[in-house]
Amino acid sequence: MIGVFDSGLGGLTVLNSIRSLLPDQALIYVADQAYTPYGDQSEATVTQRSREISQWLIEQGCQLIVIACNTATAIAIDQLRREFSVPIVGVEPGVKPAALLSRTRKIGILATENTVASQRYQRLIQAFLPNVQVISQGCSGLADAIESDPEAIPALLQKYLCPLLDEGVDQVVLGCTHYPLIRSQIEQLAGARARVIDTSDAIAMEVRRRLPAKTSNDVVDVRWYTTKFDASQAGRLQHYDQLKALAGVQPEALN
Ligand code: SIN
Repeated sequence: MIGVFDSGLGGLTVLNSIRSLLPDQALIYVADQAYTPYGDQSEATVTQRSREISQWLIEQGCQLIVIACNTATAIAIDQLRREFSVPIVGVEPGVKPAALLSRTRKIGILATENTVASQRYQRLIQAFLPNVQVISQGCSGLADAIESDPEAIPALLQKYLCPLLDEGVDQVVLGCTHYPLIRSQIEQLAGARARVIDTSDAIAMEVRRRLPAKTSNDVVDVRWYTTKFDASQAGRLQHYDQLKALAGVQPEALN
């Protein structure tokens, strides 16, 4: 069984890719919506939430954990790997494919402010300099808007994406797992000027590679939990229908 978590709904993009590649694996997904977005939380909070959720997933029998959140990966993965013995797979922006594909030698990365400020992220982009110019754009509020305020999305995309396009980037890397949920809006704005790069499928392949040879899958299903569930609000949660269809059940509250 595989455990996947994110601050909210964004990690579903990764969950979907894992399901497509590994349809015979049972999965548990935790959306830490009580603390979303992680991009606005302190490093200590993101680390503590990641620790508690990982511990809980392991107690449920998960033999591999996927941190389906760029912010939590950037801040907490090294610590979690020291603390837990199960394999832990994280996500990171697809700088490598973008650098390989870029003709203008300029790539743009959209991510949370926390991700952009992290040492792990800085190390990642350093590895590709000076062959390409990497323009990082911290997108304060975008993950939050995707989670619960879709009307705010177009203005935020204008604010964050247009300056990158004006700088001449020809690859736009989605450095937050929430952003593929609005991929079509990003692609529409980018038009023919830039290609959009998402790494969900690459993460799923890494999960397959790291999965212990013997995994217990008595019942193959997806269980979905949220740390903040209010049934009266459910209809207003963006992607809620998609979630319900995916999980096949009502999300359960995890206290
Ligand atoms: C967030 O929780 O702020 C965004 C998640 C991510 O960085 O992938």
